[in-house]
This record gives sequence, structure tokens and C-alpha cells, in this order.
Amino acid sequence: MPSLAAPPPGPTLAAPRRDAFASTLGAFAATVGSAVGLGNIWKFPYLTGSNGGAAFVLAYLLAVALVALPVMVVEHAIGRRMRLDAVQAYGRVVPRQPAWAAIGWAGLLSAVLIMAFYTDVAGWVFAYVWKSGVAAAGGAPLTPETFGRLAGGTWEPLAWQAGVLALTAGIIAGGVSAGIERVTKALMPALFVLLLVCDLRALTLPGAGAGVAYLFTPDLAKLTGPVLLSALGLAFFKLSLGMGTMTTYGSYLPAEVRLVPNAARVALADTAVSLLAGLAIFPAVFAFGGTPAGGPGLLFNTIPLVFAQMPGGAIFTTVFFVLAAIATIGAMVSLIEVPVAWLVERGGLRRPVAASVTAAAMFALGALATLSQSPLLSGVTVFGKGFFDLFDFVSSNVLLPVGGLAIAVVGGWLVSRADFAAELDRGYATPAWHGRAVMLLVRFVAPVLILLILLNSLGVIRVA
Ligand code: PHE
Repeated sequence: MPSLAAPPPGPTLAAPRRDAFASTLGAFAATVGSAVGLGNIWKFPYLTGSNGGAAFVLAYLLAVALVALPVMVVEHAIGRRMRLDAVQAYGRVVPRQPAWAAIGWAGLLSAVLIMAFYTDVAGWVFAYVWKSGVAAAGGAPLTPETFGRLAGGTWEPLAWQAGVLALTAGIIAGGVSAGIERVTKALMPALFVLLLVCDLRALTLPGAGAGVAYLFTPDLAKLTGPVLLSALGLAFFKLSLGMGTMTTYGSYLPAEVRLVPNAARVALADTAVSLLAGLAIFPAVFAFGGTPAGGPGLLFNTIPLVFAQMPGGAIFTTVFFVLAAIATIGAMVSLIEVPVAWLVERGGLRRPVAASVTAAAMFALGALATLSQSPLLSGVTVFGKGFFDLFDFVSSNVLLPVGGLAIAVVGGWLVSRADFAAELDRGYATPAWHGRAVMLLVRFVAPVLILLILLNSLGVIRVA
């Protein structure tokens, strides 16, 4: 078996030329900051609601534990070993097989496609911070029409989207430890606390139990092929996997971070935030007779309505959207970092220039996603989907699972097992079963499950 290429000389030594996260805690916070985002607060609840509830949650939890977690360990290991951006890392990690750089290229494409629709939704969130603040101060209350007008508009959503992109590019231009790490370290604890406040409010409503049951009593008959693929795609999307984000972040991880416990903690924290978000939304939806299958508008249509029926509701709505906005920033920063790292390290651009170029490309595609919901472009479909849905489907349900499969194959079969095991703990003693369990999942379980789910959704085989 060829040996995992040695890390390039220089950058990993005592005085790193390459920027990196300054501490273990900072690295953990930034990684959680990438994972936690609209995926938890917007996508997880709405996909759960449109895919029948608890059965989807169960499939999602299994996908995280059996597929996403081991892929995260591989991405971190390869990133830290290579200390390069994703394109160069995968191009060099298997000696004499530069074609694996395709994982990095596909990752760049995924990052731009995801940001195209992600910044549209992020724009709605920031708009709702403003609008709910105005409502709380005695202005016009939020109604479903508020969302319809915003999402279906032209200039308003575009302006919010441009603002969100400018903010992200500004943070990224500041660099790894000064920009990403400082911002996320401060924001993550605030997020947890604010989410708990929302949960307390929702769970003490009369009738909240139906929402809890909806999340946690699975009806296995609902586990169809498309549901399984969505759950798998969401697991990758949620943990920012299959596209190089976690490889890039792995390249900033300090040597003393033990990869398996770190990844497990990140996955747990991220899953906890998703479930806490579900527990804030579904009990309220049921208590007030809303519909769980509200689609992408679920968050924006139900939260203000249900909170409006509680004492202090307008304030809670604002708190909730501030929370969503906070979560969104760390995720967007990590998405834009993939192309930026490549442009800086390969293209030799300065960080601020790379950030601006990337943001401009993301805005060009993003405008298509945003306008696909306005009368201007709402009639335009490709493969039967508008641009917003198309970008989401191609990235989450195609590129990320395929990327994850390739990463599992590289990590499990093509690099030297001894080097891989050594990278897991870099000599900071960890129990041997960590390596064995990860290897078992990476070599056999994850690739087989991904393949089965992909083939099943293409109709090649019939499992569900
Ligand atoms: N994990 C982020 C979220 O849940 C989205 C994301 C996907 C970020 C892929 C980076 C890469 O919101």
C-alpha cells in the first residue's frame, strides 16, 4: 500500500507560516461553528416536517453516526496531515494518483452552489431580525404574507443576500485565527443559551406533547428511498462534509487535537442543536394547529405566528432570529473559506482579494436562486426544478454523498493505514479502539451505505 505523502516541510514546524486555529478549544468552536447553521434551524426542521417526522430523524441520526462521523475523521486527518487547501490536499494525498484532486474541485463547486441558496435563506433570516425587531417595537406584525413578499420579491431579497455575502467576506478577509476563530468562539455559547430559552417557551405550551411525539415516535413505513437519501444528504450538509470544508479546517487543527473525540463532540453538539431547534418548533406548531410540512418557509411562517400567541412573543421571535443569524455566520464563513483557501494558496491572491472574488461568484449564482422565487424567474426550471431547489438538490443529494464516498475510499483504502492511525492522535495517547472503530466504519460501513442509498435513489436497486 502506498504511504500517505509526508506533510510538506515548513508550515507544520514550530513557527507556522500558515495561519491556524490557536487552541484546541478554538478549533472545536470553529468546527462546531461551521457545522451549526441554517442546516439545524431551517433545513433540519423543514425536511423533518416534509419527510414525515420521527422516521426521518432516526434515519438522520444513523447517517450521522455511521457515515458522517467517520468521514469527518478522515477529512480532519487528511487536512491536518497535508496542511493544504482541499484541492491540493486530495491531489497529493495518494502518491501518483493526482486525480483525487477531483474531490477538491467538486468541493469548490459544492461550496459555490450551497452558498448560492444558503445566502438567500441567510438573507431572509437577517431580514427577519430587522422585521421582528420592528414588530417588537410596535411596528407591523409578522404574517405569512411578510414572508411571501420577502421571498417572492426582487430587490429586497437581493439586497439582503448581498449584505450577508459582504459581511461573510469581510470576516474571512481577516484571516483564520483573527477572523474565524474569534467570531465563532464568542458566538457559539450565546447560541446555545438563546436556543434553550426558546425551548423552554415552546415546551411549556399546552399541547406541546404532540410535537415531541412527532419528533421521537418513528413510523418505519415512512423510510422510503428519497427519505433515506435526504437524511444522508442532510447528514453531510449538516456536518459540512464531502466537499473539503472539514479538510480545510483540518489543515488548521493544532497537533494536540485528538481527532476521534473531537469529531464525536462536534457531531454531538451539532445534533443537539438540531434537536433543540426541532423541540422549539414542532411543539409550537402542534400546539397552535400549524402544519409540520410547511416546506422551506416553515421557520419563517410558523415561528412568528406561534410565538405571537404567547406573552412576550414578539421579543421571543426576535431572539429566535438573532440566534439563527448567529448560527448562519459561522457556517457561511466556512463555506466561503474553501474557495478562498484555494485562491490564496494556489492562485497567490491576497485574502481580501480572494474573499471578494469568491463572494462575487457566489452572488452571481445566488441571484439566480433568489430570483427563482420571484415572478422574474419562477417559470424557469432545469430538470424540473427552479434554481434554488436545483442548487440544493445537486449539492446535498448528489455532490456531497459522492464526495463523501470518494473520501471514505481514499481514507479507508488508499492511504497507509499506519500513517492514518498515527494522524488520529499524533502521539497524544488515545485508546486503540478509536482507530479500529473508525477504520471499520470508513472501510466498510460508510461506503456501502452511501452506495446503497445512491443506487436505491437512482432506481438501480430497490431497498426501500
Ligand atoms: N453545516 C452548515 C449548516 O448546517 C452548512 C455547510 C455545509 C457549511 C457545507 C459548510 C459546508 O448550516
